[in-house]
Amino acid sequence: MSAAKPIILKLGGSVITDKDGELAAKTEDINRIAEEIKRSNTESLIIVHGGGSFGHPTAKKYGIKEGMKTPEQKLGYAETHHVMTVLNGLIMDALVWHEIPSLSITPSSCVLTDNGRISHFDETVLQKCLEMGFVPVLYGDAVLDNKLGFTVLSGDQLVAYLAVKLKAEKIVIGVDTDGLYEADPKVDKTAKPYLKLNLEQLKKVQAKIGKAQTIDVTGGMAGKIAELIPAVEAGIPMQIINATRNLRVQRGLTGERIEGTIIEKA
Ligand code: IPE
Repeated sequence: MSAAKPIILKLGGSVITDKDGELAAKTEDINRIAEEIKRSNTESLIIVHGGGSFGHPTAKKYGIKEGMKTPEQKLGYAETHHVMTVLNGLIMDALVWHEIPSLSITPSSCVLTDNGRISHFDETVLQKCLEMGFVPVLYGDAVLDNKLGFTVLSGDQLVAYLAVKLKAEKIVIGVDTDGLYEADPKVDKTAKPYLKLNLEQLKKVQAKIGKAQTIDVTGGMAGKIAELIPAVEAGIPMQIINATRNLRVQRGLTGERIEGTIIEKA
């Protein structure tokens, strides 16, 4: 039985999928990360993954985030959720074959939102999983919404929500850059990552970077920061790391010093 506070690991869509492709999973990276998670021997862990080239293009195609305007969109909602279960299946494959006792918890079956914000999530089963030493795995998903009919729930909102609710020890955010940058490092090659930010500095950074020019329905890097701020406000430390590089996930989980952006309240 685990009494330790959980660590929450987010695996961004750009880490586990090729965002330029269509339904393109990066299976080698997924396997490497599963191995690193196993080796980290983390006592209490929750994994949340993103949608990448599975969830985002499908959600965009049917306008799922903006809510239900026509009944025909219901098929698009089902398809968006379905492609997420396919991606989740690939992640679960890697985790289980690396002997991690992981269990998939499907957000669309247990989360309701109100205008895009989580309004219902019964975490009893998730808590029980943690107590028994299982690793719950959740993901950004298409979810039913009290006002909109349905919408897209980002993995980042789930991460912050769970971190605050379960008083997480820390959050490790795996992305495909070496942390949080002043400017988009894929556009500006001279841009450098921030090493450490407090809450006040993070809010300034958020104001500075506009929405990244991506096809993400959940808002790119600025959206990511906005979602994560409540967890920082609750005093939960966080590190944004490059999960496409060897051993960063493992070391991020074990708390070894690695490159990346550390974010703390004060
Ligand atoms: C998006 O989740 C899920 C869907 C589009 C259905 P995220 O917003 O967490 O995904 P990434 O990490 O940005 O790809």
